[in-house]
Amino acid sequence: MIQVKSLQNLGPMLEKGRIWPGIENIFFESSVKKKFESPEERAAFKFKYLDWYAKNHSGCFFVALDQDQKVQGYICGTPNTSLHPELFEMHPWFQKTSHLFTSFPAHLHINCAEKARGLGLGSTLLNVFENTIHSQGIIGVHLVTSPDSRNVGFYEKNGYKFSQTVEWKTASLLFMGKTL
Ligand SMILES: CC(C)(COP(=O)(O)OP(=O)(O)OC[C@H]1O[C@@H](n2cnc3c(N)ncnc32)[C@H](O)[C@@H]1OP(=O)(O)O)[C@@H](O)C(=O)NCCC(=O)NCCS
Repeated sequence: MIQVKSLQNLGPMLEKGRIWPGIENIFFESSVKKKFESPEERAAFKFKYLDWYAKNHSGCFFVALDQDQKVQGYICGTPNTSLHPELFEMHPWFQKTSHLFTSFPAHLHINCAEKARGLGLGSTLLNVFENTIHSQGIIGVHLVTSPDSRNVGFYEKNGYKFSQTVEWKTASLLFMGKTL
C-alpha cells in the first residue's frame, strides 16, 4: 500500500534520515544528466531541481511511501513561478516561457523509482499536487520536458493539453500546461 505525504507533515521522519536520501536517489536515478565535473556542480544541480523546492515549498512537495516507508516517488514545485526571481536566475530559459506563466502559473517536477513506474503512481502524485495548488486558487500548472521523452504521453493522459516547443541554445524544450 502506498501513502502520499507532504514533506511539511513528515518533519520528524525526515530527521531520522531515510526519507530524504530516498528522494535524492530517485532524483539522480531519473536524471538524464549523469556526469558532474565536481561535487559542487552536482550539489548545485540538485539544489535547483530538488532542494530549492523542499526549502521553499515543503507544503506542495509530496512523497509516495510504501509499506516499509521506502520512497517510491515524489513531486515538487512552486504554485506561482513568477513570484520567484531566484528561479529565473537558476533557469535562464524561463525568459522564453514566462509569458505562459499567466495561464499556467505553477511549475512542477516529478520522478518515480524505476520499479514503481507504469503502475499509476505518477498520476496519483500529479493529482495530489494539482488539488493542493488548486485549493490555493492557482488556475494552471506547467512542466518542461523534452519533445521526444516517453513521459510526454504520461502528461497528455493526465490532461496536459497545451504544448509548445521552445528552442534554447542547442536543445528543444517542450512546455506542457494544464488548466485547473
Ligand atoms: C514519468 C513518470 C513520473 C510517470 O509516472 P508513472 O507512475 O510511471 O506513470 P503512470 O503509471 O501514471 O502512467 C504511465 C505512463 O507514464 C509514462 N512512463 C512509464 N514509464 C516511464 C519511464 N520509464 N520513463 C518515462 N515515462 C514513463 C508513459 O507515458 C506511461 O504510459 P505508457 O505505458 O502508455 O507509455 C515516471 O514514469 C518516471 O519517473 N519516469 C522517469 C523520469 C521522468 O520522465 N520524469 C519526468 C520528468 S519531466
